[in-house]
Amino acid sequence: MIDIHTHVLPGIDDGAQNIHESLEILQALADQGVTELVATPHIISGVYENTSEIINEKIIEIQDLIRENQLNLILHSGAELYCEPDLISKVKKENLTLAHSNYVLIETELQRFPDNFEEILFNFQQEGFRPIIAHAERFSPFMNNIDHLLTIVNREIYVQMNSGSIMGVFGNAVKYLALEMLKIGCVHVIASDVHGLQKRPILMKDAYDLVASNYSEKLAEILFYENPKRILNNEELIHNFEGYFDERKKPGSLKNKLKAIFKL
Ligand SMILES: [Fe+2]
Repeated sequence: MIDIHTHVLPGIDDGAQNIHESLEILQALADQGVTELVATPHIISGVYENTSEIINEKIIEIQDLIRENQLNLILHSGAELYCEPDLISKVKKENLTLAHSNYVLIETELQRFPDNFEEILFNFQQEGFRPIIAHAERFSPFMNNIDHLLTIVNREIYVQMNSGSIMGVFGNAVKYLALEMLKIGCVHVIASDVHGLQKRPILMKDAYDLVASNYSEKLAEILFYENPKRILNNEELIHNFEGYFDERKKPGSLKNKLKAIFKL
């Protein structure tokens, strides 16, 4: 598996606080079958003012740690960008993309979107970036209006889901939305968003198994490996999931089927 959303770099956000916690996270990811990961520290004005220089220094430190401990892991640099009006200029100046691709991982407030949320996403596209919304299933505005998410996804905005969400770590409402999103094909990649082993479980392996058994092995392979690999290679993601569900496990409701087919 390839994990494109982790807070493994020590002492620069609310993830790992020191190198020992970084090592714990890395060992746990490797134990679950992750072979490659992207470090995505938060960047939030006035809260976590991380720059590419700070991130790159920490990347070198953690790459050394991986080598010293002989872990079978490849680490790439990245960032989780809080949606703010001047975000594009910051990203351009600092090159804050995932693994030097054109993909950018963008988060926002969980309870409400900023007024210009979509405008910022579409502006990124116009500038040649490919935005991925971080853990969209945790956003309460989508809980009562999944069609809003579909509209955004149909404009080639991508979606990352947390492995813990489909395992119920964030409660039933998030789990329900996460499963609905998988059914209608508006999830492109699943990642851990790990912050530390004491904070919440990683559950990449369990989430992979759940997707494989509830939907199909092929879909799990795309969400945990193929699409993340395409992000690292700066290639277009698989975004039409018709044909990737096992016939027997196909999404139940007619409404969902129509949505998936006609991309409503
Ligand atoms: Fe995160």
